[in-house]
Amino acid sequence: MAGWRGRGLCATLLAVLTLLSVTHSVRITNLRVPRTYTLLRDHEPDPLVLDCEVEIGPREQGFVLKWLFNNHSIYQWIPSVKGFAMGFMKSKIDTKIFTMEGSPGVISIKNPDWNMTGEYTCAVQTFESTDKRSARLQIIVPESDFMLEARMSGSRLDVDVMCAVQHVFPQPMLSVMFDTHILDSVLTQLDQDPSGLYSMTVRTRIPRDQLESPTPITCAFILIGTNYTKRRETIFYDKASTIQRKWTTVAVVMSIASLALSS
Ligand SMILES: *[C@@H]1O[C@H](CO)[C@@H](O)[C@H](O)[C@H]1NC(C)=O
Ligand SMILES: *[C@@H]1O[C@H](CO)[C@@H](O)[C@H](O)[C@H]1NC(C)=O
Ligand SMILES: *[C@@H]1O[C@H](CO)[C@@H](O)[C@H](O)[C@H]1NC(C)=O
Repeated sequence: MAGWRGRGLCATLLAVLTLLSVTHSVRITNLRVPRTYTLLRDHEPDPLVLDCEVEIGPREQGFVLKWLFNNHSIYQWIPSVKGFAMGFMKSKIDTKIFTMEGSPGVISIKNPDWNMTGEYTCAVQTFESTDKRSARLQIIVPESDFMLEARMSGSRLDVDVMCAVQHVFPQPMLSVMFDTHILDSVLTQLDQDPSGLYSMTVRTRIPRDQLESPTPITCAFILIGTNYTKRRETIFYDKASTIQRKWTTVAVVMSIASLALSS
């Protein structure tokens, strides 16, 4: 019994202390910045909404709230003029929707772009105190195209494998596997186009005698630093070898059945 009463008393005391400290300062109670934001192709993007919830004591004066992107001011809210955007996101931040409703820390970014990936900081201050919190946001741009091809080389001694992913952000990492082997002797080409998106192609050659027919060949990519990943599989299938075994004389060269699996 005594234990319970003691605990209750403690909790009350804590609440009172918290209340006291709160009424004497400005404090960020919650910073809502999504870890990732995916720009879906063929979709009008949802606005990117960031929120900085603030608790402010009734006697505090000179309140200013700022949002910074990579330490550059993009937004400021003060009681007399409410919110206004500045800097490189000036035309992107919609200040009208939320600030009128008394939530100075909410900002909405229209049509976000890959280069809005970075560190977002909310900074609040009054004449008496300050508070500041930061979080990183990663914008993801999904691929415009992702393809995998496996072809018999001209000499029929090798199988040429090509896998390519196009126009993604951030940088992708591609890997090619057949059966359970990851192929490391691959030729990799990485490009960044003028708009900042990455494309990557890997090519490799597998000796024909290492591949049974049929064999699944898989290509997968991950966007570095994210959980965004996709894979494709193609079945290498050499019709010629099957037919030879059956002693058929029909001349069929080779065919590859493609099977696209999106995760
Ligand atoms: C912003 O400034 C802080 C403190 O000066 C620093 O630790 C941080 O790395 C800076 N962030 C960026 C993205 O430049
Ligand atoms: C981000 O990209 C857009 C469009 O490519 C460009 O207009 C803008 O200036 C870029 N912003 C920064 C900070 O690089
Ligand atoms: C990736 O997924 C794991 C497990 O779901 C999660 O903990 C982590 O935060 C995610 N990482 C990113 C960058 O979203």
